[in-house]
Amino acid sequence: MTQVIPIELTVNGRRRALEVAAHHTLLEVLRDDLDLTGTKECCLVGECGACTVRLDGRIVDSCLVLAVEADGGEVTTAEGLAPEGSLSPLQAAFLDHGGVQCGFCIPGQVMAADDLLRRNPHPTVPEIQEGLAGNLCRCGCYEQITEAVLAAAEAAAFEPADARSTGSDREEAAR
Ligand code: FES
Ligand code: FES
Repeated sequence: MTQVIPIELTVNGRRRALEVAAHHTLLEVLRDDLDLTGTKECCLVGECGACTVRLDGRIVDSCLVLAVEADGGEVTTAEGLAPEGSLSPLQAAFLDHGGVQCGFCIPGQVMAADDLLRRNPHPTVPEIQEGLAGNLCRCGCYEQITEAVLAAAEAAAFEPADARSTGSDREEAAR
């Protein structure tokens, strides 16, 4: 019999009480229990970054975090970067610069770019490439994605969605 454990998460500013299977990941709970399908399911081994979310102020691969490990945590997904029905300036820059082809990697790319710009509001091209190195794009839109992040930074249009969160270091994030 599957063990079910009660947890609480604050997801995109909304408190959620959940009962989750002990072996379910944060990714599964976001997508299957909360219907937040912007966070993508792909490699499930921490290689592609499609499942990137912000957890307690730093980005993580949600496929590698058990939901019970996130108990009490604050989670931001791509849906949480902008009010419903709108785009953040960073998200709009991805569209404006052709950074979106099939779009599958984009929520994770945007979460990583959001994290980078919180830590470094005016990154150089190499810094953007390094900051997004954990996010793979099978369509090969790396140049356009880099241009989008540069444009968002240069326009000083970047505004963190969650001003309470602190900067983070992806290398330290659970993967
Ligand atoms: S699904 Fe690829 S890193 Fe999580
Ligand atoms: S836009 Fe298709 S995988 Fe990145």
